[in-house]
Amino acid sequence: MRYSEDVIEEVRMKNDIVDVISGYVKLQKKGSSYFGLCPFHNEKSPSFSVSPGKQMYYCFGCGAGGNVITFIMEYENYSFGEALKLLADRAGIVLPKQEMSQEEKQQEDSKKRLLEVNKLAANYFYYQLKHPQGQDGYAYLKKRQLTDETILHFGLGFANKTSDDLYRYLKNKGYEDSFLKESGLVTIEERGGHDKFWNRVMFPIMDVNNRVIGFGGRVMGDGMPKYLNSPETRLFDKSRNLFGLNFARTSREKYLLICEGYMDVIALHQAGFTQAVASLGTAFTPQHAVLLKRYTTQVILTYDSDEAGTKAALRAIPILREAGISIKVLNMKPYKDPDEFIKNLGAEEFSRRIAQAKNSFLYEIDVLKSRYSLEDPEQKTQFYQETAKKLLIFSEALERDNYIQAVSREHFIPYEDLKRLVNQFGSRLGIQDSYRAFGRIKENGSGAGDRFAVQQEDKNTTGREAGKKGRGKNEKEEKTRQPQRLLLTWLIERPSLFAKIEGIISAEDFVEPLYHQVAEMVFAGHKAGEIKPAGILNHFINDEEEYREVAALFNASLKESLNNEEQKKAFSETVRKVKKNSLDWAGRNARDIQEFQRIIREQAALGSLHISLD
Ligand code: CTP
Ligand code: MN
Repeated sequence: MRYSEDVIEEVRMKNDIVDVISGYVKLQKKGSSYFGLCPFHNEKSPSFSVSPGKQMYYCFGCGAGGNVITFIMEYENYSFGEALKLLADRAGIVLPKQEMSQEEKQQEDSKKRLLEVNKLAANYFYYQLKHPQGQDGYAYLKKRQLTDETILHFGLGFANKTSDDLYRYLKNKGYEDSFLKESGLVTIEERGGHDKFWNRVMFPIMDVNNRVIGFGGRVMGDGMPKYLNSPETRLFDKSRNLFGLNFARTSREKYLLICEGYMDVIALHQAGFTQAVASLGTAFTPQHAVLLKRYTTQVILTYDSDEAGTKAALRAIPILREAGISIKVLNMKPYKDPDEFIKNLGAEEFSRRIAQAKNSFLYEIDVLKSRYSLEDPEQKTQFYQETAKKLLIFSEALERDNYIQAVSREHFIPYEDLKRLVNQFGSRLGIQDSYRAFGRIKENGSGAGDRFAVQQEDKNTTGREAGKKGRGKNEKEEKTRQPQRLLLTWLIERPSLFAKIEGIISAEDFVEPLYHQVAEMVFAGHKAGEIKPAGILNHFINDEEEYREVAALFNASLKESLNNEEQKKAFSETVRKVKKNSLDWAGRNARDIQEFQRIIREQAALGSLHISLD
């Protein structure tokens, strides 16, 4: 870690977690914690909690958890250093300058360098566009009716006809081949480096913080491929970024427009629709939905009006719906895409189409209908049946009925008949099953699970990172880890329990390395009079898997008090297991016969160990 523990702790303490997270997530106070919709996974009911006491967040749905620093790291996709800087600035703390060796710098700052090199390249492309060598590109953008202002705003540029000028430019700036290759801007072959993009107009792709993370490059005619995009890098993750979102996030509209192409976004922004975004030459993903959800709960799809656009819309709708985003679909006909539409009919007409945009479910039914020839009674029946089945995605009776009414009105299907058909399918599938089939089973909130032991077990296995890196936690290992984890959670949650285990359990008894580290700090904190969960977490900040697991430890809560008999027994059992496990471990590692004999005696005494909670 480059900064001293004191500095990190100061930054953390001067940034109240509730204040910081409130800037990103709408939080509501419930008891001693705050709850909101988790920004790290799709959900419709809040299971994301922020504890002012612990200065930590934890999601009971996906297991994301940590302190204020890890929140910024995950939310903004920042490195530790970047997150620390943001929070230090926020609190008016000046971070001490870091002395680093050349080698250290290269390793640690690879992401920073990627940002740097992308920015350099963007400036380079822009410069080319604005100079004689870029006149083809400039003329092309002008022909597409883009103003100089728009070109500057989006930082559009031109990659020259020469096939290695960017490469040479960047080499001159001191970047080495291996790094340039990693940036995706050049390819390195035996005969030297070559630019990935040449003779193309360039679209820099920015993340929500206005940092260039990649490029799309378009041929200026009918060549193939029409667009070439940067490959994914450490920086550039196509499924987590959207073109134009850096601008759209500050637009004042309540909804966002989602379209297909770079040119659509640019044309829309130029026409005043700064709420438009597009995916990056890939299909719309659930991660995109999570990202959008941070900024809006309503979208209007403005996909191309051709078959491919319709298919893309039909794929995006369920993903957005699942994320709890309300969706409408805009009718672009007779034009193909927003760019063409605006050119031909203008912004005002586009606004009118926005106002007329269709509810996405009714749109889906329209598309469904177009696939049947309704003069044929058999096909007509099939259309009705498919429609009825589709209506079952609405689990709420009133909502479903509203849609049955709307569909019957639009498609002239007698209401009673359609309703009967829907109910018929509903009961045939078994209403519950039909919901499950459509993935609409309610998320189980934080209240699930009645025995705390079981509950905590769940949390540690449903975390989205669970199993990642495969640390090989086999069942046997888990048997010794679980009681340690449970006991730690209890001690953190209820420091009065320290008195009960005094003389029996110390930090040494937590033998799993990660828990051991945490236990050392928890016991020390208790001795000093205060356990600071978020401060302890600072020590694990460099390993996502570790800080998540530690965050889970600190956030598992004891729903029930420890006063019924079953739970008292569970506690005493857990203490015994931890001790036994620790003694077994010590036995395996005993240095001499005396020590071994002492361990044997303690093991024997374990049988009569009595831990009382009264
Ligand atoms: N796309 C891509 N690679 C291609 C074709 C398309 O990555 N070979 C992506 C680009 O992000 C593009 C989007 O798909 O912006 C939509 O494609 P298309 O409609 O063909 O392009 P437009 O952005 O509409 O560009 P133009 O108006 O210049 O045709
Ligand atoms: Mn297009």
